[in-house]
Amino acid sequence: MTIARRGFLVAAGTLASGLPAPFAVAETAPLLERPIPSTGETVPAIGLGTAGGGYESAGSDEALAPLRETIRTFAAGGGRVIDTASTYGDAERAIGRITSELAPAPPMFLATKVDAAGRASGNEQIEQSFHDLRTSRIDLIAVHNLRDTATQLATLRELKRAGRIRYVGVTTSYESQHAALAELMRRETLDFVQIDFALDNRDAAERILPLAQERGMAVMINLPLGRGRLFRAVRGKPLPDWAAAFDCHSWAQFFLKYILSFTVVTCAIPGMSKPEHVTDNLAAARGRLPDEATRRRMETYIDGV
Ligand SMILES: NC(=O)c1ccc[n+]([C@@H]2O[C@H](COP(=O)([O-])OP(=O)(O)OC[C@H]3O[C@@H](n4cnc5c(N)ncnc54)[C@H](OP(=O)(O)O)[C@@H]3O)[C@@H](O)[C@H]2O)c1
Repeated sequence: MTIARRGFLVAAGTLASGLPAPFAVAETAPLLERPIPSTGETVPAIGLGTAGGGYESAGSDEALAPLRETIRTFAAGGGRVIDTASTYGDAERAIGRITSELAPAPPMFLATKVDAAGRASGNEQIEQSFHDLRTSRIDLIAVHNLRDTATQLATLRELKRAGRIRYVGVTTSYESQHAALAELMRRETLDFVQIDFALDNRDAAERILPLAQERGMAVMINLPLGRGRLFRAVRGKPLPDWAAAFDCHSWAQFFLKYILSFTVVTCAIPGMSKPEHVTDNLAAARGRLPDEATRRRMETYIDGV
């Protein structure tokens, strides 16, 4: 670790925080990175989601403060991918402000979404994203929930040719849209797809992940914790002792390591608005992952609670 990086970690409160041993040990191991098939560029396998958790209503300095700590902890821990959307209230403005304050500026991978009908309205929204994120280049813009896909994809491809964005994608978080997404994936060339997938919501593993592998598309996973549903399912239950065999020390790591065990998954983007959640979740991208037999055991476990 360089002195500058160590200084940044201390500034972000992660070395000085007296974290429990599993986190402290895990923090010294490298973060798993996965390649984006269309370029081979790698990104860390755990990103930061910003729907809810206070990002959408982060208009005041007071509301911004815990999110600043969260993003600083994320960057200090080696996190780079931040997922947001033009429709997430104040989120893009909050991210733009916080990331522009980070010093030294860490290399971030900013992903946002266009959610509009019609070319003019899509363009207007995208220009607002550049302004609010305080950047001249956005890494990934995806069409949100397949809305007006043909029109918005045409615009995004023009932006990519112009060098203003680097990757183009589409997203959904509704099982009812999985068939339409699959059809689109067969027809279109896309850098990224973003889809809902969790230990208790496994449709994507049947329909979308194999197709992404076949079509060479990067996969970002939204709702990896089922918006908290998975934590409610295991409330009061101890982590199975066999979880230690894949370096898993918390329920969040159990849920996220399950997702990362699918090698086609490029990154999962849990929503996080607390520094301790960042530290916990980044550790899912460190150490061993469950093998296929263990993955089945995890599915049986969650189906039984
Ligand atoms: N169609 C789309 O494109 C689409 C749709 C939905 C979501 N998304 C993206 O996907 C991201 C993830 O989805 P989501 O945020 O709705 O749901 P999620 O990631 O499944 O769950 C987020 C919830 O889990 C909590 N959490 C996170 N880490 C935790 C930990 N280690 N221990 C205990 N609780 C923890 C968060 O709490 P705190 O906030 O308190 O940390 C938050 O309440 C979104 O933020 C968004 O960026 C995209």
